[in-house]
This record gives sequence, structure tokens and C-alpha cells, in this order.
Amino acid sequence: MHISQAYTQWAATYDTDRNLTRDLDATMTRGVLGGRKVATALELGCGTGKNTALLAEIAQQVYALDFSEGMMAQARAKINKAQVAFALADLTQPWPCATGCVELVVCNLVLEHIRDLDFIFAEAWHVLTEGGQFYLSELHPFKQYQGKQAVFERGGEQTPIAAFVHHISDFVAAAQGAGFTLTKLGEWWHDEDPPDTPRLVTFLFTK
Ligand SMILES: C[S@@+](CC[C@H](N)C(=O)[O-])C[C@H]1O[C@@H](n2cnc3c(N)ncnc32)[C@H](O)[C@@H]1O
Repeated sequence: MHISQAYTQWAATYDTDRNLTRDLDATMTRGVLGGRKVATALELGCGTGKNTALLAEIAQQVYALDFSEGMMAQARAKINKAQVAFALADLTQPWPCATGCVELVVCNLVLEHIRDLDFIFAEAWHVLTEGGQFYLSELHPFKQYQGKQAVFERGGEQTPIAAFVHHISDFVAAAQGAGFTLTKLGEWWHDEDPPDTPRLVTFLFTK
């Protein structure tokens, strides 16, 4: 099944299914980004808008992209603010954004579904202003090494969604290749996690 179709099938219950990764991501993202103020932010793979509401607190204008119609329908129903513009877009194709138009790019739990990191970082570099930042939150590759990936359940049947393993060094190399500097790296555990393998990794890159 195509990734966008899988997410459209998952969309109705994405926010309410038990999902420690989603919940930890929301908490950590608010912790890292909350309290900032920027003019414009671009959210990659906004999904049901879980983090879009936070971005609307941070940015005067938010552009939110995703290629799943079902996920975006949930986001549009949840967030009805003039300052937030949603658009269907495939992030593996040139983004519908002008050069140097945003101060903050945010991408949560998306890049496990995208093979080519170089393209993503090149596009992020292209759309960011000088000094702009790219915040990235992903399922930690240590979890992927253990076989974890995005999966949803319908009628007792588990559907894994196509995923690619990106090592920590892959993210850093792709970012540096595009010109970014790594400003902050975080590894995070949910309260219910054992204290060994981290669940999430976050990066803050600066142009
Ligand atoms: C696990 S959800 C995360 C949604 C949201 N960022 C969050 O943290 O809850 C992954 C999202 O990435 C989107 N996505 C995956 N690959 C994509 C692509 N190539 N272009 C656009 N969206 C993509 C999916 O449609 C889905 O909404």
C-alpha cells in the first residue's frame, strides 16, 4: 500500500490510538520549541495537525504540508485559523515554497518514510532564511534496529507502513552536506520506556 493511502486509512484513529511515540514527540517538541516567536514556519508532514497548533502559537504564519488527504482532513477540521495554510504536497518533490521564505522548518516522525535525506535537507536549506532553523524529531534508529516502525491496526490486523532506516550519522551527514550546522541533539524516553533504548531523537540544525 502506498504510504499516503496507509496514513489516510490510519487518519481517523491516529490521534486516539495508544501511541507512546506520538505522545512523547508532542511533549518534547513543545519543550524544545515552545516559547519561540517567528514570523513564518513550515511544517513537513503535518499529519492530523498534532504539532500544528503549537506552531500556530509560535509563528505568525504557518505553512503545513502533507501528502495524505485523510490526515490533512483531520488537521483542517482541528485547526481553523487564518494564519495556518494547509497544502497537499509530496515532500520528495520540489516543495511549493519560495526561496528564503521561512524562519523555522519543523518535521516530526516523517523521515522514516523518506529514503533520500539529501533532497529533504537541500529543500529545507532552500526555503529557510539565513540563520533559520530546521527542527527534526524521528523514531530513534536504535528502535528501528529492534524492528520498530510506524504500524497501525484495523480490526485486529497490523499494517506496517513502508520505512527506511536512517542512522544518526546519516541525518548529520545529509544536513552538513546541505550546509547546516548541528546546534542541538536530543535523545528521549517516554516515562513508560525502559531506561536503555531511547525512543526519539531530535535535531536542531541552523542555516
Ligand atoms: C507518523 S505521521 C506524523 C504526523 C505528524 N508530523 C505528527 O507528528 O503527528 C507521518 C506523516 O508524514 C506524512 N508523509 C510521509 N511521507 C510523506 C511525503 N513523502 N510527503 C508528504 N507527507 C509525507 C504522512 O502522510 C503522515 O501524515
